[in-house]
This record gives sequence, C-alpha cells and structure tokens, in this order.
Amino acid sequence: MVPPAPPQPKAAADFFPHRDLLGVAGLTEAQVNYLLDKAEIYAAQNRRVVKRTNLLEGRTLVNLFFEASTRTRTSFELAAKRLGADVINMSAEGSSIKKGETLIDTAMTLNAMHPDVLVVRHQDSGAVALLSKKVDCAVINAGDGSHEHPTQALLDALTIRRRKGKIAGLHVAICGDIVHSRVARSNIQLLHIMGAHVRVVAPPTLLPAAAANLGVEVHHDMRRGLRDVDIVMMLRLQSERMQGSFVPSVREYFHFYGLDYEKLGYAKPDAMVMHPGPMNRGVEIDTEIADDISRSAIAEQVEMGVAVRMAVLDALSARLPNFAPMNAQ
Ligand code: CP
Repeated sequence: MVPPAPPQPKAAADFFPHRDLLGVAGLTEAQVNYLLDKAEIYAAQNRRVVKRTNLLEGRTLVNLFFEASTRTRTSFELAAKRLGADVINMSAEGSSIKKGETLIDTAMTLNAMHPDVLVVRHQDSGAVALLSKKVDCAVINAGDGSHEHPTQALLDALTIRRRKGKIAGLHVAICGDIVHSRVARSNIQLLHIMGAHVRVVAPPTLLPAAAANLGVEVHHDMRRGLRDVDIVMMLRLQSERMQGSFVPSVREYFHFYGLDYEKLGYAKPDAMVMHPGPMNRGVEIDTEIADDISRSAIAEQVEMGVAVRMAVLDALSARLPNFAPMNAQ
C-alpha cells in the first residue's frame, strides 16, 4: 500500500513563498533550513523499501535538458516519481530544437500541454529565468550556463550539515575552475546565507575578474588556501565552456591544483572532501581521495540530491497551478 504523504504545515506557501526556484539568490536562511529539514525527512524515507508518497499524484514534471546530465536529471526524475508525479524527459537532441525551434517556442509548446513543473538546464546564463516568464507552471533551474545551480548548492549544504552538524562558522575552500562554475556561484551565495566562511582557490585564469566582489578570500596556492579548512570542494575543469587555453597542461594543473593527500594535509585532520561531479580523476582530484570513504562525501552528495529535489518539489507544491476547466468563466 502507498503510504500517505508526510503532513503538510498549515500554510506551506508561507514558509516557502516562491513559485519557482531559479537560484539561491533571494532565499533566506529560514527558507534554506525549511528545505533542508524537509530533505532530511525524505533522505530517511529514501532508505526504506517503500519510497513513494502521493503528494504530487496527478501532477506532471517535464525535465527539459539542453545540456548533458547524469545526476541532476536522474534525481529529479526519481524525486518526482517518489512523490507520485508523472515524468517526461526531453533533451535537445531528440526534440524540434534540432529543427530550429527556439527555447521560448519550445517552452510555450510544452506550456500548452499543462505541465505542473518544468526542470530546465540550459547552456546560457539567464535562459531559465527568461523561460519562466513565458509559462504558467513552476520552473526549477537545473543549471544555467555559469550562473546558478541551486539544487546542487542545497544538496551540498545538506551533506555538510549532516556530516558536520552545522554550516555556520565552517571554513569552506572551493577549488578549481571557479570562473565557469554555476556550482561555485550558487555555493558561495548559499554558504554565505548560512553563515560559513568561503575561500576560492584557483589560478588567476580560472577566477572571475571580480572574484573579490564575491565576498570570498581569494588564493592562488592550494597549500595556503586549504590551511585549516573544514570542507574542500573540488570543481571540474569545464572544457565545454572554454575558448582557448586556460591551463598550460593537465599534468601541470594536477601538480599545482589537483587534490592529493599532500595538499589535503593542510586542511583540518577531519576535513571533508566534496565534488559535485562529474569528476575527472587525475585532473582535479586524485583517484584514491575520491574513493576514500573516510574523507570523501561524494556518494552522500548524490544520495542527498534526490532528497533535496523531493524537498524542493514538496515546497513548490503549495503554489502549483490549478487549471480551470475549458468552459469556466
Ligand atoms: N552535479 C551535476 O550537475 O551533475 P550532472 O551534470 O551529472 O547533472
């Protein structure tokens, strides 16, 4: 038998008064904690044999991905199905975008089919916000260019809170290709909302020109940047967003910026290693550290991804559209 959905607060929309989740910018600490607390409940539920509830019974979620994804797309599909929704997966590859249809025309076409939630990943920063203005349903940003990836930052925050018992006051080093990374931008903002201290560690070529304006400590040397941190968050070199050469060679990059045990030794003895994936082993992270379950939280990040996405869908469900019949006045 399908168990009933967890009890909803009296006015869920008051706790999370958003129609869409386009970024972490604009979220309050209380709203983030509301999502993380819900995600904890779903994380426990996801370890049971029966993982399904009926909160989104009858609702439809469309995954619209213009860029490749393994974790985000799969976990949104699992999250929606575990809440009882129907799910359609669309990629640019098998769609009429290949015939020249624009992003907005694609969105308006899907909108005419009355989905309840659109989960969108797009290569251009700002594209998901633009699309959200053209549709009636809730829109979730699954990553837009180098702008934001809000559910990644939320799942990272949940992983940190579970492992460290808190987020406020922790020292977090985000290392690698900062300039192209939506994960870095969302994490910097969310960690600041939650009271953590953030450093970025990268060669000058992989930092945004105005890195200091992000309110972070900036380091170019891994040993200095990792000194006494609680969390080491490694990022992939995003070659798909690079025009020209940003690093002299992969071998040299790993030598100076790849996380190995020697560099990790500068962090606190219990420092936790994170990576949003996909990883390039031997480029930004040593393969042994990636698989070292005493240091690496990478698998837990993936697990928390499903729980956080269930929490986001749950929170947005309070404001999902209710369509009137065709002949209604
Ligand atoms: N972290 C992340 O967004 O992974 P995917 O590209 O596999 O979704």
